[in-house]
Amino acid sequence: NKPLITVIGSINMDMVTMTDKVPVQGETLLGESFKTYPGGKGANQAVAAARLGGRVQMIGKVGNDAFGDELRNNLNKEGVSVDCVEASNVGSGVATIILSDNDNRIIVIPGANNEVTPEFVKKYEQNILASSLVVLQFEIPVETVKFCLQLCHEHQIPVILNPAPARKMEEGDWIKATYITPNETEEEDLFSHLREKDDVLSNKLIVTMGDKGVNYIKDGEVRNVPAYKVNPLDTTGAGDTFNGALAVALGEKMELRAGLEFANGAAALSVQRFGAQGGMPTREELELFLKSRRGNE
Ligand code: RIB
Ligand code: NA
Repeated sequence: NKPLITVIGSINMDMVTMTDKVPVQGETLLGESFKTYPGGKGANQAVAAARLGGRVQMIGKVGNDAFGDELRNNLNKEGVSVDCVEASNVGSGVATIILSDNDNRIIVIPGANNEVTPEFVKKYEQNILASSLVVLQFEIPVETVKFCLQLCHEHQIPVILNPAPARKMEEGDWIKATYITPNETEEEDLFSHLREKDDVLSNKLIVTMGDKGVNYIKDGEVRNVPAYKVNPLDTTGAGDTFNGALAVALGEKMELRAGLEFANGAAALSVQRFGAQGGMPTREELELFLKSRRGNE
């Protein structure tokens, strides 16, 4: 049976406004277009993993509203199990995204995602314990992330923790994650004190750096896995695609470096279409892409 990947995290509706120019304070502008896309870091990571052939279940909450139905249906259509996705009386999480050339700005209103409490997650403890790998982010309450880290640690279930958006925890919490995947800003905020340090925590870090690829530490040395060169159209969700793909790779017991190349490839493909989940590749698409890029080296 395929390894089960469990994503515990956020589900949002992304409200994307495209504009040539971003307004300054007090300014009104006419933009280019508006569209809604399913998003949320948790849901995005779940969809990325499912498209790549992972067996995926999501634990989270949507609102008892039209967005909530759409978000749940979308996950289901993507092949993500939504048995542990409940509707709450608080509105669905939404993200307001201003997208302009090579830039995105995002404001998240968590709504129902804030109801993903330790008590709620506890209801699905058996589902979590059946997992080969758990994926977490920070768009749900920090107490819940801590609770899940502890549970997985006790049962030796590997965890990928994507610390986005950056939130503080104690060293004793971070250490329970198997891998921690900040981007450069999050690394700066949370882990800059670890630089030059070769210890257990720094060895868990996988830092995603957009077109500069990914850095990780092996044998006390920083190693880089270069990014694949592409022309990005919309980088929203690139990090999520990376994390979802990495979950599939590690679930399948790929070597770390091969897994990072696999995840870089998935992210490179994802940025070529609009929407966080648009452009996330299927397994075939990704394998073809990786093969073609290898052939060019
Ligand atoms: O990482 C991208 C995601 O962040 C978007 O889909 C948005 O919902 C925010 O959560
Ligand atoms: Na995309």
